Amino acid sequence: MKKNIYLIGFMGAGKSTVARILSSRCGKTLIEMDEEIERQEGKTIREIFAEHGEAYFRARETSFLESLEGQRNLVVSCGGGAPMRPCNVEAMRRGGQIVYLSTRPETIYERVKDAHTRPLLEDHMNVDDIRGLLEQRLPAYQAAADWTVGTDGKTSEEVAREILEAVSGTP
Ligand code: S3P
Repeated sequence: MKKNIYLIGFMGAGKSTVARILSSRCGKTLIEMDEEIERQEGKTIREIFAEHGEAYFRARETSFLESLEGQRNLVVSCGGGAPMRPCNVEAMRRGGQIVYLSTRPETIYERVKDAHTRPLLEDHMNVDDIRGLLEQRLPAYQAAADWTVGTDGKTSEEVAREILEAVSGTP
């Protein structure tokens, strides 16, 4: 299986941890989208949002995904907002398979509540606001997904195993 695997899902879904496990299990190169953009810009996501605004960051996500085109055997942990742009989903689809990590708002809240690295949650760190944004995004996540794996009550190891079972058998 040399195609890429793109992990999508809300902030705190566990994409980064699961991507790391998948990368070591199946020998794929790990790409952490946010970290790559931070490295290229020489700034944290918070600084990028504060200094250039969200639209600039969204454009960087698109150019980053497009820059991966032609590369294979990657596991890409995508920023939570990346699937909101259809052109991003098309770039992912051309590269391989898209796996949506589905997570309940209550679980997300528990995972993100102590972090201050996500500008979109900074003034919305509560279950209701997380549920609201998740509901807005759900149609795009579901439409993009080749596979959906629930993460509530599972370890990252279990989630990674389910993904491998789902995608194995596809060339
Ligand atoms: C965002 C998710 C973040 C990061 C940025 C915006 C979003 O990534 O890209 O803060 O719009 O959902 P993670 O999903 O890896 O936290």
